Amino acid sequence: MPDIAAASLDRHDTIRAVNYVEGGLRLLDQRELPFVEKTLECRTAQEVAQAIKDLVVRGAPAIGIAAAWGVVLQARTLAAAARKVDLATLLPTFDVLNAARPTAVNLAWALARMRAALAQAEKAGAASDPLAALTAEAHAIQIEDLAANRTMGKIGAAFFGDDIGVLTHCNTGSLATAGFGTALGVIRAGFAAGKIAQVYAGETRPWLQGARLTMWELVRDGIPAKLIADSAAAHLMKTGAVQWVVVGADRIAANGDTANKIGTFQLAIGAKHHGVKFMVVAPWSTVDLATRCGEDIEIELRDPAELLSMSGKRTVVDGADAWNPVFDVTPEELIDVIVTERGAIERPFAAGLARLAARG
Ligand code: MRU
Repeated sequence: MPDIAAASLDRHDTIRAVNYVEGGLRLLDQRELPFVEKTLECRTAQEVAQAIKDLVVRGAPAIGIAAAWGVVLQARTLAAAARKVDLATLLPTFDVLNAARPTAVNLAWALARMRAALAQAEKAGAASDPLAALTAEAHAIQIEDLAANRTMGKIGAAFFGDDIGVLTHCNTGSLATAGFGTALGVIRAGFAAGKIAQVYAGETRPWLQGARLTMWELVRDGIPAKLIADSAAAHLMKTGAVQWVVVGADRIAANGDTANKIGTFQLAIGAKHHGVKFMVVAPWSTVDLATRCGEDIEIELRDPAELLSMSGKRTVVDGADAWNPVFDVTPEELIDVIVTERGAIERPFAAGLARLAARG
């Protein structure tokens, strides 16, 4: 692992998109970026679920963290009304939050942690404070995610040669996590280590996470970055400008198949064709050993309206329809390395993931 000073990582860790304050969850509204930096405050779990659905908060780790705080908000409401805070009273809240988005497993993972914390508090009986236990668990989920990202940054950057070009997709930075980012964290660490000369970010149609969010983070950080149309990726690889494609993940199955933002699969195909290395970066909370392979991952289909217009302006003739799957699955054979905070693994991934699971 390269010895990247904490201070140089700190310089690239300045954005917090999810902030809990007593009784409210403040979310940097990602629908408005990059031109408007506006905070939306959720005061109920229902509002948090809606914010996740509407992409006010997005990115696999960030939606897990937000959902955990959503549980805390409902627990506070129950406590304020002198109602019991237990699994029975919170079950509908867990269900509403879990249903907000289907593909990123971090959502279900965070809620499972919150349930386990609650169950433990219940077991402790009269002496326990379930609200305090839930609040502590939500804090832990958020803090651990930030630490995981900083660790993954160093592990991932160790794979890079000197003076390289990197292509990334979607937004995997501070906006998508507790801070620093997963794939973007590796890019930040690689830049801090002096290894990355140029970053390319795909626009990520239709929601433009790459254009609106990743470019905002990279420009703020002073990292040399160029935006490309998603359709320019294969041509970019052919020119020899990039040596690595580095992406995040929404769910990694037990065999290494990886669901991520729509368009990731075609980047992996292009990378294999051009001899460009392909790295997936995700915290252990994104690994789902209960899902055998990519075939078993539910792919979220969103409103066709997201495709039929840009910035609220219709771009397609009235009467036209669209198909809008927002994730795809990259088969494990197209991936060179998976980086988690528990370590990096190369193929065969099934054995590597089982090995990392045992480290937990
Ligand atoms: O639909 P989004 O914006 O939530 O999709 C996000 C992605 O696909 C990211 O690449 C993934 O969640 C990893 S974020 C660290």
